[in-house]
Order: sequence, then structure tokens, then C-alpha cells
Amino acid sequence: MKPGVYVHIPFCEQRCYYCAFTVAVAPQRAYEPYVRRLLHEIELSEFRQEPETIFFGGGTPSIINGELIENIIAAFPRGAAEISIEVNPGTLDDEKIERYSSAGVNRISLGAQSFHDEDLKNAGRLHNAVDVLHDIDRLRQRGFRNISIDLIAGLPNQRREVWNKNLDYIERLLPEHISIYMLDVEERSAWGQHRNDVPGDDVFATFYMDAAERLAKAGYIHYEISNWARPGFECRHNLKYWTGVPYRGFGVSAHSFSGSHRYWNTTSLAEYARMLDAGKLPISGQEQLTREMRLEEAFLIGLRRTSGLDIWTVAADLEIEYPQGWFERVCELEDAGWVQFDGKYVRLTTAGCLLANGVTEELLWPNLLLT
Ligand SMILES: C[S@@+](CC[C@H](N)C(=O)[O-])C[C@H]1O[C@@H](n2cnc3c(N)ncnc32)[C@H](O)[C@@H]1O
Ligand code: SF4
Repeated sequence: MKPGVYVHIPFCEQRCYYCAFTVAVAPQRAYEPYVRRLLHEIELSEFRQEPETIFFGGGTPSIINGELIENIIAAFPRGAAEISIEVNPGTLDDEKIERYSSAGVNRISLGAQSFHDEDLKNAGRLHNAVDVLHDIDRLRQRGFRNISIDLIAGLPNQRREVWNKNLDYIERLLPEHISIYMLDVEERSAWGQHRNDVPGDDVFATFYMDAAERLAKAGYIHYEISNWARPGFECRHNLKYWTGVPYRGFGVSAHSFSGSHRYWNTTSLAEYARMLDAGKLPISGQEQLTREMRLEEAFLIGLRRTSGLDIWTVAADLEIEYPQGWFERVCELEDAGWVQFDGKYVRLTTAGCLLANGVTEELLWPNLLLT
């Protein structure tokens, strides 16, 4: 299977209060030298395979010139079936849209987060709801047929009716794909330092169940814990992460995976520049996956997909046998309404998706590798 390529563009105009990603609020003059080094990294890597997917993530890939995005795409063999770019509402212009289109970008992921301006302002976003509507209009006019929208559920003080208004917008706009993330307040974010009015688990649960119900009615397939798509519009790039297919990441903080070996780039922009200027790949860490890590990952990513975890494929790959007590545990989880099991696939129910980590831990314990 052809690999996926991830390209990290770390620049943002401002750091949103909830964000803990590797981002840099840097002047525009920093963009071109970064891309020059990124192209050097691609060259040094000797990665010459034709990728099936290319994903520009950030940071805000849409704040750099369209021409720089074109140059990066041109550094890979042609023929990728899916080229996605994360776009912050309000950062597009006609020239960028034109260049994306001619370079083969065919999937746009718009970080709407909410359609309620007060939510956006409180979260430190620089756009308004109307910018999202405007961007979608322009993209549709230019022929983009695969648009994804990101929403964050449970922003501070978000009421259920406000959340449901967001879902009204989705039903009106009918994007091909939707990602819904529960607000995660990480210590490294601004809110991680002082915010304490984040909704409780019961609120997250209500918002998630509202979304699952309404999106199913609107014809979306819930294919991964946080992702819904119209049939045929599942994100091919992200599916690679969730099925264990190799991918190669370029740019500061990007991760790569060979199938058995994982390595990652430095998270420091200065170090990234220093290493590349010295003619070295900016890799700062690596690990060989042990059997235990492979088992944990197979369960973690298998359960994230709503198609479920094929327990017999995992057993054959990792040479494990499930003891009787394991099946009894699956039955208990099934009785509690968290999973479904048909003898081959274990699947999380919608309610189980809210407890995915706990259910995964339950199924991994006691250590199956000792059986
Ligand atoms: C790589 S991020 C950034 C994409 C783009 N820069 C933007 O902000 O629109 C991708 C998505 O992760 C989600 N996200 C980021 N931080 C989050 C957090 N702390 N909790 C929940 N979702 C988060 C947002 O929905 C965001 O659009
Ligand atoms: S959420 Fe997006 S725009 Fe905001 S700081 Fe993070 S990466 Fe940048």
C-alpha cells in the first residue's frame, strides 16, 4: 500500500487559548526560509515513493503563500489521490485557492470550531462564523468537492442550544466530512494554566450524543470516534494512521512510521534550522515497536474505528491466545452497553466512544502477551 505524507507548517497568527500543538507565532519573513529547509529535508530523506495522500497540518498551513504549498507538493512524485490542507477561516484569498487547485489539493479542512462568535472570541480565534460561510462559498465556486469542518464541543460556558445551533449549520452546509473534538484542556495551553469553567463529563456526553444522532439522520457515516463523513469521503490520510499503514512526516515536530519503527523530528524551530543547515535530518527521537507496544496500538486504533477491532487478525499477527476470562470481560462490557462483539469484531457503541480509553484498558488487561 502506498504511504501517506504529512507536512507540518507551524506558523499561526496568534495562539488560540486551548491549543497545545507545536506552533510558532512568527513574522511572515520566517515562512520562506522554513519552507526552503523543509524542501531540503525532503531531499535529504531520500523519500522517493509516490504517496497516496499528502496532508498539510499545523499550525496554519493556509497562512503561507500558495506558491510555497505548490513547491512542497512538487517535491513529491505526482499522483497522490488525496491532498488535504488545514485552512483557518479568513486566511484564504483567490490566489491561494487557485494555486491549491492547480497543485492538486482536493480536500480542504476548515477549522470552524464553532459558529457562535462569542465562543470564537473567548477561545482567542481570529475569525467569525461568517468567514467560514464565505470561505465555503468561494471554495465551492472554485470546484472544491471535498470540504471538512472541525468543531470543538464543550468550549467554556457553551450551552446545549448553542452546540445544537452548530449542528444546524452543519445540516445546512452539508460538508463532506466533519471532525468533532471534545475540548481537551492541556497544561501546555493558555487555558491549562488558569481555566476552570470547562464543562463536566455529562455535558460532553450530551453534546456527543446529540451530534451522533443528528449527523446519522443527516446521512453521515460515523467512521471513527471523532469523525463523520458522507459515504466515500472518509479521510484517506487519517485512515492510514488508524490502520497501521506507513507514513512519512516532514517539518518541525512531524512523526514518521515505517510499520515497525517510529521516529520524530525536533519540536524546536531553531534546532530544526540548525540541523538542516548542517546537512543532517532533524530527527530527535526514535523507537522500535515492541510486541507489547504493537498490541496496545492495535487495540487503541482498532477500537477508534467504528468498523471495529478484528481480534483474530491481531491474534495471528502477534501470536496471542485470548483466555476464557477475556471473552467474559467482553460480555460484561457488552452488557454494560459499551461494546458490541460478533465473534470477530469488537466495536465501541456510541456511548462506548465516550469511554474509549477505559474500555481499551479493560480489554488489554490482564496482559494478553503472557497467555
Ligand atoms: C492541528 S489543529 C489546527 C488546525 C487549524 N490551525 C485551526 O486552528 O483551524 C486541528 C484541529 O484540532 C482541534 N483542536 C486543537 N486543539 C484542541 C483542543 N485543545 N481540544 C479539542 N480540539 C482541539 C481543532 O478543532 C483544530 O481545528
Ligand atoms: S488551534 Fe490552529 S490556529 Fe489556533 S494556535 Fe492551534 S494550530 Fe494555531
